[in-house]
Amino acid sequence: MSQPKVTRPKGTQDLLPPESERRRSVEGVARSVAARYGFREIITPTFEHADVFVKASGETSDIVLKEMYQFRDRAERELVLRPEGTPGVVRAVLENRLAVPARLYYLGSYFRYGRPQKGRQREFGQVGVEALGEASGWTDAELIAFGVDFFSELGITDCRVLLTSIGCRECRPAYREQLVGYLSVRRPELCPDCLVRLERNPMRVFDCKVETCKVAVADAPKPRSGLCNSCEEHFGVVRQALDSRGLAYEIDDRLVRGLDYYSRTTFEYTSSRLGAQDSLGGGGRYDYLFEEFGGPPTPAAGLAIGLERTMLASPPTPEPARRRLAFVVWFSEAELEHAVKLADRLRAAGIPTRLDFDALGFEKKFKHQVKAADSQGASACVIIGPDELAHGVYSVKNLETGEQTQVPANVISEHLRATL
Ligand code: HAM
Repeated sequence: MSQPKVTRPKGTQDLLPPESERRRSVEGVARSVAARYGFREIITPTFEHADVFVKASGETSDIVLKEMYQFRDRAERELVLRPEGTPGVVRAVLENRLAVPARLYYLGSYFRYGRPQKGRQREFGQVGVEALGEASGWTDAELIAFGVDFFSELGITDCRVLLTSIGCRECRPAYREQLVGYLSVRRPELCPDCLVRLERNPMRVFDCKVETCKVAVADAPKPRSGLCNSCEEHFGVVRQALDSRGLAYEIDDRLVRGLDYYSRTTFEYTSSRLGAQDSLGGGGRYDYLFEEFGGPPTPAAGLAIGLERTMLASPPTPEPARRRLAFVVWFSEAELEHAVKLADRLRAAGIPTRLDFDALGFEKKFKHQVKAADSQGASACVIIGPDELAHGVYSVKNLETGEQTQVPANVISEHLRATL
């Protein structure tokens, strides 16, 4: 085939069958697990005012600084293709005065202008859940359990849970000062980005991938060392709740996450099947975001899971040679109208059914249709010829075995439903 003149943008992907069907089935699992935990769906716009993300995700986060698809519309409004779901959900809850506590989930496309690689696209899918108005550490643990349930339902067994606490607005200033003191001495080892981080959000240095920065922070005081009593207590509850569920986790003191709104609990799921981009999903508590948006103090926690990475980490599902599809095949134009009616009857009975109308233009109509059925991966041909019409039957050819049987016309739907 010749090269097309138009191609997809860098960092996007086309999902063709059967991958598109696999993706929808992963989304179906997400919906059903979310519903089991009492989440209801929220659908928010794909683009928002830039402020929504600058305020929430944070002026110092890489996502806001480097990765936003930001543009001005024709009326000079600053807009952004959403890079994540949480700020839009909080904005929508406040704007629509939805009563909290509320548990909401969402599924959709998100956009980040990063360097594309395995498991990192510029447009990617996420399922996210947000527990709004819930303050307890038991909630944090239940959110972590939601993700583990989702992964295990998809057969992802090598998922690790990483966990830490990054403190609250009471204890963080003192910790921040301590960290800045430690890192200031090591300035010469820090990359230009981290020198800026040191001023704006020093915790972010823990996230830097540059080797000299990694060495510089290796022995720095970790966020957990600066927790106040109330944060310690909250973290204790999260751990107790996870232990009581028998849910395994590892404390990772360097897990600061890439967004600014977190407080207290942060967590991530990783999988060894993913390579460099090994985070399947992540989340945490964000008790101050409602206030940032001018709302009342509202504790909240949530998480989001990347759908492409989930698919990469899931065991492959072998594609069956044939799919649930029947082809109604007619002998000559005399049976065509009958065939179309039968196809509609089968569809009404829930049986995916096709006809090959293009066979009309060929001399060997019957052969053309059977070939089309075979190449489309159909499981059966329902054949209508003059003999079948005369005897009130259809001939059903099983395309997998080649076997052909006659089925009374009045039970054809039941027969196909049972055998396809
Ligand atoms: P996040 O860690 O930025 O958190 O993203 C969550 C997940 O989305 C990642 O673990 C990854 O699986 C997937 N993801 C992120 N960027 C990409 C990309 N460029 N390509 C493919 N997959 C990607 C959030 O988005 C927060 N809103 C989570 C949250 C909800 N926190 C509280 N509530």
